[in-house]
Amino acid sequence: MKVFQLLLLLVVTLTPITIGAPNRTPPLSPINRSLKRHTNVSATVSNDFKTYFYNQTLDHFNFNPESYATFQQRYIINSKWWGGASKNAPILAYLGAEGPIDDDVTILGFLTEHAPRFKALVVYLEHRFYGESNPVGLKGGPQSIEAIEESVKNKTIRGYFNSAQALADYAELLLHIKNKLHAHNSPIIVIGGSYGGMLASWFRLKYPHIALGALASSAPILYFDNLTPQDGYYSIVTKDFEEASENCYKTIKQSWNEIDRVASMPNGLAILSLKFKTCSAAQYNAPPRYPTTQICQAIDAASNATDIILDRVFAGVLAHTAKRPCYNMTQAVTQTSIGWQWQVCSEMVIPIGVTSNVSMFPSSPYDEKEYDDGCDKMFGVMPRPHWATTYYGGQNIRMILSKFGSNIIFSNGLRDPYSSGGVLEDISDTILAVKTTNGSHCLDILKSKETDPEWLVNQRKEEVKIIGRWFRKYYHNLRLLKQ
Ligand SMILES: *[C@@H]1O[C@H](CO)[C@@H](O)[C@H](O)[C@H]1NC(C)=O
Ligand SMILES: *[C@@H]1O[C@H](CO)[C@@H](O)[C@H](O)[C@H]1NC(C)=O
Ligand SMILES: *[C@@H]1O[C@H](CO)[C@@H](O)[C@H](O)[C@H]1NC(C)=O
Ligand SMILES: *[C@@H]1O[C@H](CO)[C@@H](O)[C@H](O)[C@H]1NC(C)=O
Ligand SMILES: *[C@@H]1O[C@H](CO)[C@@H](O)[C@H](O)[C@H]1NC(C)=O
Ligand SMILES: *[C@@H]1O[C@H](CO)[C@@H](O)[C@H](O)[C@H]1NC(C)=O
Ligand SMILES: *[C@@H]1O[C@H](CO)[C@@H](O)[C@H](O)[C@H]1NC(C)=O
Ligand SMILES: *[C@@H]1O[C@H](CO)[C@@H](O)[C@H](O)[C@H]1NC(C)=O
Repeated sequence: MKVFQLLLLLVVTLTPITIGAPNRTPPLSPINRSLKRHTNVSATVSNDFKTYFYNQTLDHFNFNPESYATFQQRYIINSKWWGGASKNAPILAYLGAEGPIDDDVTILGFLTEHAPRFKALVVYLEHRFYGESNPVGLKGGPQSIEAIEESVKNKTIRGYFNSAQALADYAELLLHIKNKLHAHNSPIIVIGGSYGGMLASWFRLKYPHIALGALASSAPILYFDNLTPQDGYYSIVTKDFEEASENCYKTIKQSWNEIDRVASMPNGLAILSLKFKTCSAAQYNAPPRYPTTQICQAIDAASNATDIILDRVFAGVLAHTAKRPCYNMTQAVTQTSIGWQWQVCSEMVIPIGVTSNVSMFPSSPYDEKEYDDGCDKMFGVMPRPHWATTYYGGQNIRMILSKFGSNIIFSNGLRDPYSSGGVLEDISDTILAVKTTNGSHCLDILKSKETDPEWLVNQRKEEVKIIGRWFRKYYHNLRLLKQ
């Protein structure tokens, strides 16, 4: 075991992600997927949810013989609250991201909790290549990794595994749903979190004739192409720990030197490998039990006589994993881990590194060559770091979108390390940033809870108010048009 791996171990302990190389770019899920790996949507949600499949076009952008192939794309509809086509009642559409849609249906609350007030149809669309929407077929069940493994190895089929094709799927499928329901004038709001939040905002920009507006939760659309300093992510992780406890921050910061020291001793690596365990914290640092706070309380409480800093840090790790210490440092392989690797090695190149000496992490600048080599080794491809901004924009976003775009909510929690790449200021009257100081990743679109703090309740209220405004304006315009 290398020292480097041990460093990673501690990082993984404190955050869900690690630094630099492509196989270490954080999954951008709204949820802690390691927690919810085996949900079965039909078993866990009520009968109001109906699952359908659509024969989706494999390749929207070419007219070669193979482009006409189709695959089954899964979508789930809940029409319990829908006001119906005759009333042009709206549609809330969740755009799936880098994982099976099952998890999202069970964990998200935003759509179902607000559908009644809008009399909205609720739709969840699965992202191509994940869950039951893989062009190579199912191969062993919706949560199995066989199909996605085969897909990313196949040089032909993986060429269709990208965000532009996924957005085109959503466009085609949403129109199909509207046609099927004769809901031609029903306005659609697209909703997504994290990578899915980016998709939602990009969808509004690319398909304004299909989506009236977008709620993009924790969408780091500016973490591409050096629009955001590479340090953003870990600066926020550091800040989260520093805010939890200054002493805790210092202890962790010093632990890196200690790791180097112990590692160079005879048997040092064996000692270290016994000390640390995996599991994630900062990105999903949600109330009421903020994991960073728990970790820091334990680190601070560990006797100062424990002069081996590592023991104190370890005490913190234990606090977070108390009931189920995980000695296994191999992260489970999931559809998300496999699929997201391909996505970050093709177009989702998010440069994350540590350069600041204030950081509690040791210096580890983003290394483009290391990233490229990793992708070359894994897939035999070179990533295209400029494509996301070329295709979707991002430079001078304020100037461009204030003149061109409308109806997008960018919601963020500033404790989420990914908020460093988010849109945090209003761009216009209708492109709005709704942020909270103490929020975490995608918190606003998760199910609401009794214990939710007031600022979270208010954030959701604000979002609902804005969407309500979009609807009112839309129906007003629709009436004018029909007169
Ligand atoms: C995420 O899931 C893992 C695996 O079940 C768990 O150990 C960890 O505590 C979870 N993290 C948070 C912040 O809930
Ligand atoms: C999911 O749950 C449903 C209902 O309980 C069951 O009929 C179905 O076989 C399950 N599917 C899988 C893949 O486990
Ligand atoms: C979808 O594709 C399947 C398999 O190719 C085919 O059997 C089915 O008839 C198609 N459904 C529609 C509605 O075109
Ligand atoms: C890759 O996928 C294509 C398209 O589905 C298929 O025709 C081909 O046989 C696959 N290649 C391999 C090596 O499996
Ligand atoms: C350990 O030392 C730190 C800093 O000197 C202090 O803030 C903390 O309260 C001490 N912890 C205990 C348990 O004495
Ligand atoms: C560690 O976890 C991985 C992934 O979940 C699993 O494949 C492996 O068998 C585990 N190893 C041990 C020793 O439990
Ligand atoms: C961090 O870097 C800044 C500027 O490069 C320097 O002024 C400062 O002394 C450094 N702080 C530490 C703790 O090394
Ligand atoms: C955020 O949380 C901290 C404590 O962790 C608290 O002191 C502060 O008032 C909170 N801020 C807001 C805006 O709720």
